[in-house]
Amino acid sequence: MRLQGRVAFISGGAGGMGQGIARKLAKEGAKVAVADVQDKLGEQFVRDLREGGADAIYVHLDVTSEQSWEKAVGETVRAFGKLDIMVNNAGISGMGIAPQGSLENWNRIMDVNSTGVFLGTKVAVQPMIKAGGGSIVNISSIAGIVGMGLDQPVEKGLTGAYSASKGAVRTLTKANAIQLARNKIRVNSVHPGVIETPMTAEFLKDPVMRERMLKEHPIGRIGKPEDIANAVCYLASDEASFVTGAELVVDGGYIAQ
Ligand SMILES: NC(=O)c1ccc[n+]([C@@H]2O[C@H](COP(=O)([O-])OP(=O)(O)OC[C@H]3O[C@@H](n4cnc5c(N)ncnc54)[C@H](O)[C@@H]3O)[C@@H](O)[C@H]2O)c1
Repeated sequence: MRLQGRVAFISGGAGGMGQGIARKLAKEGAKVAVADVQDKLGEQFVRDLREGGADAIYVHLDVTSEQSWEKAVGETVRAFGKLDIMVNNAGISGMGIAPQGSLENWNRIMDVNSTGVFLGTKVAVQPMIKAGGGSIVNISSIAGIVGMGLDQPVEKGLTGAYSASKGAVRTLTKANAIQLARNKIRVNSVHPGVIETPMTAEFLKDPVMRERMLKEHPIGRIGKPEDIANAVCYLASDEASFVTGAELVVDGGYIAQ
């Protein structure tokens, strides 16, 4: 097992990709803390993980609150004794929050997707230094590398907040990787293409959109949470001991075109 004895924390762990990541890290021997705002879903998921033999806990977390981060990571270190792996996975698309293109929509997306990663990194540093090092994996997006606005007239709202929030994660990752290298903490980003999760369920229900997405991914399929979980597992493991500040694109060739 590639992560035997390690302790991993997964923000947004009750969501589609978060569950896939938690399952994979647990299968590779890590003790996992699943953290989310969706307590019922997260608790149920952790019960399932435990029934499958995993050592797992659920902790409540709102990634926009520093206090909430300190409490959740504190609970994890008390339960498992240390922290080795932080997966900053929680995120929102921004749909249905406030009108697309409004300042409220922009601020909310930035708070969750960018500030959430900054805070998750900040609280992970001290426990990781204590543990002798660690691995931070930030879930960005292909939208953090190329502009991905919605194909709609500007009268319906200026898009781009999601791309901007994920672009911030990409370069924050590199800046943190340089600074934390001397502390033996590696920091990398993962850039998924379109993945089948609750976030994309509505959008992929539309047969025209699904067909378009299938065409956009040269590999000919939409991604699965396991595709991302495998990438996270690699970056979290010692197999990636010389990899830091890197951006791992997992998108079936979407942005290679
Ligand atoms: N699904 C895709 O196609 C896709 C593509 C690229 C990147 N991503 C990114 O992958 C990550 C996971 O997305 P997903 O597709 O699994 O979506 P999802 O909606 O299934 O899961 C996201 C999880 O984050 C949690 N969350 C939201 N706000 C939170 C907050 N303030 N505090 C704590 N948790 C919070 C949600 O409750 C949910 O469980 C996100 O960062 C997303 O932006 C997704």
